Amino acid sequence: MIPESFVQEVLARVDIVDLIERHVPLKKGGANYLACCPFHNEKSPSFTVSPAKQFYHCFGCGAHGTAIGFLMEYAGVSFRDAIKELAQQVGLTVPEEDRPDPARQKQSQSLLEVMARAAKFYRDQLKVSPNAITYLKGRGLTGEVAARYGIGYAPEGWQGLRTVFGEHYEDPGLVEGGLVITNDAGRRYDRFRDRVMFPIHDQRGNIIGFGGRVLGQGEPKYLNSPETPLFEKGRELYGLHQARQAIRESNTVVVTEGYMDVVALAQFGFGAAVATLGTATTPTHIQKLFRQAERVVFCFDGDNAGRKAARRALENSLEHLADDRAVRFLFLPKEHDPDSYIREQGLIAFQRALDEATPLTDFLLRELRGTLDLDTAEGRARLVHEAKDWIPRMSAPILRAQTLRQLANMAGMDLPEVERALGLEPGKKVRPPPKRLERQRVVTPSRQLLRLLASKPALCAELPDNIDSLLEDAGESAILQLFCERAGHGLSLSTLFDSQADAGLRNILADLLTGTEDEEPLEDTAALVLLDDIVRTLQRNQIDREIAQLSAKASQGGLSTDESRRFAALLSHKQSLKAGQKPPV
Ligand code: UTP
Ligand code: MN
Repeated sequence: MIPESFVQEVLARVDIVDLIERHVPLKKGGANYLACCPFHNEKSPSFTVSPAKQFYHCFGCGAHGTAIGFLMEYAGVSFRDAIKELAQQVGLTVPEEDRPDPARQKQSQSLLEVMARAAKFYRDQLKVSPNAITYLKGRGLTGEVAARYGIGYAPEGWQGLRTVFGEHYEDPGLVEGGLVITNDAGRRYDRFRDRVMFPIHDQRGNIIGFGGRVLGQGEPKYLNSPETPLFEKGRELYGLHQARQAIRESNTVVVTEGYMDVVALAQFGFGAAVATLGTATTPTHIQKLFRQAERVVFCFDGDNAGRKAARRALENSLEHLADDRAVRFLFLPKEHDPDSYIREQGLIAFQRALDEATPLTDFLLRELRGTLDLDTAEGRARLVHEAKDWIPRMSAPILRAQTLRQLANMAGMDLPEVERALGLEPGKKVRPPPKRLERQRVVTPSRQLLRLLASKPALCAELPDNIDSLLEDAGESAILQLFCERAGHGLSLSTLFDSQADAGLRNILADLLTGTEDEEPLEDTAALVLLDDIVRTLQRNQIDREIAQLSAKASQGGLSTDESRRFAALLSHKQSLKAGQKPPV
């Protein structure tokens, strides 16, 4: 575990505005910064970043957190990796901890360095390899686009990387990073030899793997990095790092199958393309894609393999659809892949083809229909039967309703019949939309108290001894206790937030962090008056609760002498609180 003090130190040095700005363009709005939320799609900005609180909050989807949380959510990294990344940015090194596998942490740190050094070596080699240059030129690539994608060349020979790593060629990192292979005799050799090298970046621009293509004919055509601690094929998309800006500008991302497709599209002016890495499109890919843009267009090769890939993408998309997202499929002519298409037809034709791409629903219904003869009852029944495995999985309720209606038309059935046949109860939503955070919150006195203490921790000393008994909510009590414990050490809400594992407590802290919209800080005396006011209200509420209990008991079977006495005392106590007198001690 990373010590909390270290987390605090990192958070104290990082500026969340600076961090988020690098990924999301922010506009100043009052004391805060505003943007369209990167975690859901929206037209008007409801994502706010508070420099004072070092916290972000989206009023649209409820996403919130600190710099750490932002990185985790945005870049999809673990808590530890987020800290590591932030620490690096502010020149701190994460302390080695003794428990979970420190060797591994250290390794994955240096693995990135290993990959970066290898990539530089390959790039440098390309400059002095006429064969590779001729090959790339022959495929119509410009030097500019080759540089943009960091394309390189792995030279012939068994240990080319030794030139750059020297004695470190023997380091375990080279094997673990997939650059070097050890044979049965224990001898090491380069995985990539005499190949054009395409570095694979993660979203943040780190090189995590490579694809290497033979010059011309040869098997395998592409050799890829194996799965390593850095590189998981089912998560990564080739070219995403380079495409981000273009994706953001067009709110569209085009998914292709090949390295060369991405590079060629970029060269011809279409920058918003990515590629899967020789694997099918996974649900993780889809989620990642939807985080980038509202429109996702799958553009696979025009051959049979391409159609099969499209079907897989369709299948894996269904559960991640949303009514404000659009998925389309562009089927190229049989002999083309995106690379050859844009070379032959040009950018405008490609863009036109994208605009006319088949919407997901149409593709789905076409696939379901297949070769069925809808003129027969059997064919129509079969159609609905086939749909069972697909349509109920669609997560966009409106789109699903539309698709059902189309299916009903094709099947010559009415809508409720089709719904029943698919096991969908007519008129009922299968999956409720995710709950949004409510915009207006009623601020209870106890929450008000916590807010006040958050901005004026010194007031903890002014609380009555029985304050704990006045808070009804166990979570709020726990937070209050945390506040009081830390009041002397300076209280940072965002640090508390990050060090807190309990989801309930995190919610309360998030509310405290986002609730007060940068009001002027209260003057000390005004704060004391407010505190007094809140405590009085809490006491009154507590007394009311007790009075209610006792009167319920009285109406059921009477009170003991003690209880009657207590009852009377409470009533007069309540009077005195109303009159604004100090409560009796
Ligand atoms: P393609 O065979 O369609 O390659 O494979 P391509 O991108 O059009 O490449 P060029 O134009 O012939 O150079 C598509 C993707 O499948 C993976 C690679 O990721 C490739 O980009 N692939 C293909 C492999 O991993 N290994 C192979 O041997 C072939
Ligand atoms: Mn190709």
